[in-house]
Amino acid sequence: MIEKIKVYGKQKVNGKVNISGAKNAALPLLAAALLSSDGMHLKNVPPLTDIATMLALLENLGVDCQVLKNSPHANSIKLKTDSVENFTAPYEIVKKMRASVLVLGPLLSRLGRCRVSLPGGCAIGVRPIDLHLKGMEALGATTELRDGYVYASAPRGLRGAEFAFPIVTVTGTENVMMAAALANGTTILKNVAREPEIVDLANCLNKMGANISGQGTDTIVIQGVTSLRCSEHTVVPDRIEAGTYALAAGITGGRVDLLGGDFRKLLPGFLDKMEATGLSFSPIDDGLRAESSGKISPVDIDTEPFPGYPTDLQAQCMAMLCLADGESTIRENIWENRFMHVAELMRMGADISISGTHAHVRGAKHLVAAPVMATDLRASFSLVLAALAAEGDTVIDRVYHLNRGYCCVKEKFAGCGVELERMR
Ligand code: EPU
Repeated sequence: MIEKIKVYGKQKVNGKVNISGAKNAALPLLAAALLSSDGMHLKNVPPLTDIATMLALLENLGVDCQVLKNSPHANSIKLKTDSVENFTAPYEIVKKMRASVLVLGPLLSRLGRCRVSLPGGCAIGVRPIDLHLKGMEALGATTELRDGYVYASAPRGLRGAEFAFPIVTVTGTENVMMAAALANGTTILKNVAREPEIVDLANCLNKMGANISGQGTDTIVIQGVTSLRCSEHTVVPDRIEAGTYALAAGITGGRVDLLGGDFRKLLPGFLDKMEATGLSFSPIDDGLRAESSGKISPVDIDTEPFPGYPTDLQAQCMAMLCLADGESTIRENIWENRFMHVAELMRMGADISISGTHAHVRGAKHLVAAPVMATDLRASFSLVLAALAAEGDTVIDRVYHLNRGYCCVKEKFAGCGVELERMR
């Protein structure tokens, strides 16, 4: 397995990047296939290890998954779902990827019961699923935790209900929305997540015959239907990947054309903050151009649910702010442990201190190459960004984290005149 990346320092990003389909949209969409016995055809699915893990889980449940390569950075997947009988999502798969819990709602809805391993904690936080379960219970399911598994059942089917999430949860909203699609009656979900990936899922479910409205607002209304049919759907572009490459232009003083989506609409909170740092954005054919002014101004950032500044772009932005002209403060409001990259950035000469949920980033004159280690998916790319701007060549270890959520990194950077090397 390829495990390290060598990044040559002092490179400037200048070119274009085809943005792939969003991992965090494709994962719930794949789980949604379980809701119908009629199959699904998903297009623009990114070739990532997290997607492979979800396909392994679906196959384990009885789904036949046929993957067709459309381009190096997009697959099309045909799912045959007529013989789903297994209702267990085993620990061996769930431990690799917490988003596996997204099969809970669809399995419960389709089979009337499921047994899903509890995901456990991870590098960025505890990640409980209590709100997923409270939502299922509101729909009439009973749930029990035993042997590290959630046992959920609704032998007489789920029934529509009103449920207000006490805090905004992305996969929680997706799970309960999927379960409610086949419930008997109307479900009203309040204080739901408004992320574009939720809207994409609701739109796909509607193509399958569901009756969902309000997606993209804080209240979603679902009129339950008795069955769903096969649909063809194209996964929304990955706003986090787009933001990450914009930051690559920012930290290297370069320019990048992000192709394949309306990123102004997909990244409102991010673009506002980045404009304050000196990055400018202009619309181009089929995308958005991000261009550095050659200077990085400090900025204060609070991570928030959509449409605020996304937590999934916090680590990458911190790398850029390490070279700002002054002090920035980043407050991480979503995950309690998402500053693991700080110690690695400091190995490269960054000047950062942490107090609770705040990171104070004092801009340094330069960063210097050092051996560093990726601690989680987004952290791994923050190290790539820091390394591009650093003096010397940086070797980043444990890049399997990167492969979970970013595809064709070497090829995409090559399209921007930037070279890096995969190493064993
Ligand atoms: N939370 C609970 N109880 C729950 C669910 C969530 O307390 O039942 C808490 C979490 O502990 C966290 C907060 O609510 O503090 C928000 O978590 P959320 O449920 O929204 O996160 P998620 O659905 O598990 C998704 C993305 C993450 C992204 C977050 C926030 C997917 C597959 N994952 O996770 O993406 O950080 O939303 O936007 O959609 C990534 O791609 O790198 C990544 C971690």
